[in-house]
Amino acid sequence: MNELIKMIKYFNNKKIVIGVTGSIAAYKAVDLASQLKQRGAIVDVIMTETATKFIHPLSFQAITHREVVVDLYDPSSEIGMDHLVLANQADLFIVAPATANIVSKAALGIADNALISTLLATEAPVLVCPAMDGDMFQKPQIKNNIEKLIEFGFHVLGPNEGRLASGNIGKGRLVEIYEIQNMCRYIFGIKGDYRGKNIVVTSGGTKEHIDPVRYISNNSSGKMGNFIAEAARDRGAFVQLVSSSLSAKSSAGIELKKVKTADQMLRAVELASTSADVLIMAAAVSDWKPIDVSEQKIKKDGQKEISIQMTQSSDILSTVLKPGLFKVGFAAETEDIINNASEKLNSKGLDLIVANDISDDSIGFESDYNSVTIIDKNGIAKQVDRSLKYEVANLILDEVLNLYV
Ligand SMILES: Cc1cc2nc3c(=O)[nH]c(=O)nc-3n(C[C@H](O)[C@H](O)[C@H](O)COP(=O)(O)O)c2cc1C
Repeated sequence: MNELIKMIKYFNNKKIVIGVTGSIAAYKAVDLASQLKQRGAIVDVIMTETATKFIHPLSFQAITHREVVVDLYDPSSEIGMDHLVLANQADLFIVAPATANIVSKAALGIADNALISTLLATEAPVLVCPAMDGDMFQKPQIKNNIEKLIEFGFHVLGPNEGRLASGNIGKGRLVEIYEIQNMCRYIFGIKGDYRGKNIVVTSGGTKEHIDPVRYISNNSSGKMGNFIAEAARDRGAFVQLVSSSLSAKSSAGIELKKVKTADQMLRAVELASTSADVLIMAAAVSDWKPIDVSEQKIKKDGQKEISIQMTQSSDILSTVLKPGLFKVGFAAETEDIINNASEKLNSKGLDLIVANDISDDSIGFESDYNSVTIIDKNGIAKQVDRSLKYEVANLILDEVLNLYV
């Protein structure tokens, strides 16, 4: 993961309580606490007695710089004695890893330790990440109790299938820390200004095959579109990400549709747009595709040159004509940027266009930064100076929301 991206404070000043229970995966909660703190959260940790047999509270204290609560009746602990303090303060409560024991206690309302007493008292959203042996997870009691938690409004993430402590492969492994973070971002987004909006975003450069091993593509990394998808999800949108980018991923609130060619992207965008309010085309769609795709690898066969006949590929933005769909295009230009972008906005019937100068190496394709001009239908242009692509994504989304009716 890129160091610069780590600096984005997705959880700025959010008060997050992590409940840690007696699972072999308890050590992973230290990384979770660290990652959340690095991204701006104020993290408190409550551990069960059993969890302290797996990992010492000092590890969490050193990471969070805050007192760790274990004992509900510890007179020397300021917050331990009043379990309602953390319950009331929390913006989000995560139980990770969650044992079969805590899952069942939470489902039944058994409040016999500091963690579960606080959990049952909080009004904050709760995310439970179960981790246990695969056979334990399959038991109907556990499945029923997890279903009960979902009925009570808890978010449940995982467990994943994979290698378990026993050495067996099964479903019981704690989800990865990045998955927990994505889920947290999704949960915080539920009340965001994009809640209820359905957005289609495209990213990546399409690949147009010449033969089974060769293709024509471009330098787009897909980062800009991927960040727009994440930013929209973080603000509450349901996002369908149609992407040819290798780094694009499905995550909480983002449904990924993988494509390769411009034609595949067109079909996927058309389908996704039927339920969408906004379409943001950040993908670098190939303008040209070979007329004939050789079924066999093209051999040199003594030739010094070959010619490849190309034809125009589908123009996705002009083709998708769903009434009321708010359409945003991107114009990667090397000269006369504003005029070229405005011309594209008008000819494709867009609501907004985002223009950038790809001749500048410090921004654009592979970079985590971008500098863009956002132009609306009335020709009003807003300049966004060099900023992280996640920040640029949010400014584009601000503009969309300003103009969206
Ligand atoms: C080495 C070891 C690993 C364990 N790992 C898990 C686990 O991953 N998940 C689980 O539900 N229980 C696990 N247990 C059993 C729990 O520690 C036990 O059910 C305990 O009562 C849980 O207490 P707590 O929920 O209050 O933390 C493990 C036990 C041992 C000895």
